[in-house]
Amino acid sequence: MSGSNAAIGVFDSGLGGLAVIKELTWLMPQENFIYFGDTARAPYGSRPPAQIIDFMHQSLRFFADRRVKMAVFACNTMTAVGLESARAYYSFPLVGMNTGARVALQKTRSKNIGVIATQATIASGKHGKTLKAVDPGVAVYPQACPKFVPLIEQGELDGPRLEAAAHEYLDPLREAGIDTLILGCTHYPLISPLIRRVVGPAVELIDPACETAMDARRCMVKQGVLAGPGRGSVRLCFSAGLDLAERLAAGVIPDRLTEFEHVDVQDYALPRRIS
Ligand code: DGL
Repeated sequence: MSGSNAAIGVFDSGLGGLAVIKELTWLMPQENFIYFGDTARAPYGSRPPAQIIDFMHQSLRFFADRRVKMAVFACNTMTAVGLESARAYYSFPLVGMNTGARVALQKTRSKNIGVIATQATIASGKHGKTLKAVDPGVAVYPQACPKFVPLIEQGELDGPRLEAAAHEYLDPLREAGIDTLILGCTHYPLISPLIRRVVGPAVELIDPACETAMDARRCMVKQGVLAGPGRGSVRLCFSAGLDLAERLAAGVIPDRLTEFEHVDVQDYALPRRIS
């Protein structure tokens, strides 16, 4: 397939990006989507940046092979660590996760904003820099949450283990007086009822998935590659655990399920140089 009917590639380390594809399919129902979640190797967020970049290129080469017209990073970690350096390598446009900074700054009254994300995203400082570039008077409280993603990837969306981790990470933010919390990892909206319970009803939760979908649409309008009228398809590809992925996807995008596929993205690794 080529031209405007080509698919849009959407990818994440695993299941988190499903929340982004939900927004994308809602905003652009006429488009064909191909999602890749690297469930065999998630989480990415506690890996070294060089490895995250290596895995990112494997997904992007897979999309190049499938002749996508655009790729959307449904992963804050790969956006923070690899997006800018990846642009030079691909002929199709790349759209990263929106930081949610604009919406967070609109919502906050106390100017105390929390950011929860993976270790790699927090280490990049991306959210804090973006927030402070717009409003230097804002106080940012970054918190890495490495225990969340491994549990979510096992299909655990609530329960004592997650609850204990949530208190460990979120109680200090609540005590610091945040009134707005950016969910800076696409896995976290899957556990937003638990997060809401722990931070309390007064804290505004910001999920940047919707902003990201709007960024993607703006990019397509600019490139002139929107699909014509009709209803597009959704193909969901994973490197492991198709059963769990199917179950979770049925809860997240129930009206848009088409096909599932196992993809071994390591087929797209560059050969290692032997020295
Ligand atoms: N969902 C991803 C993100 O938004 C990565 C989570 C992980 O694999 O650690 O950062």
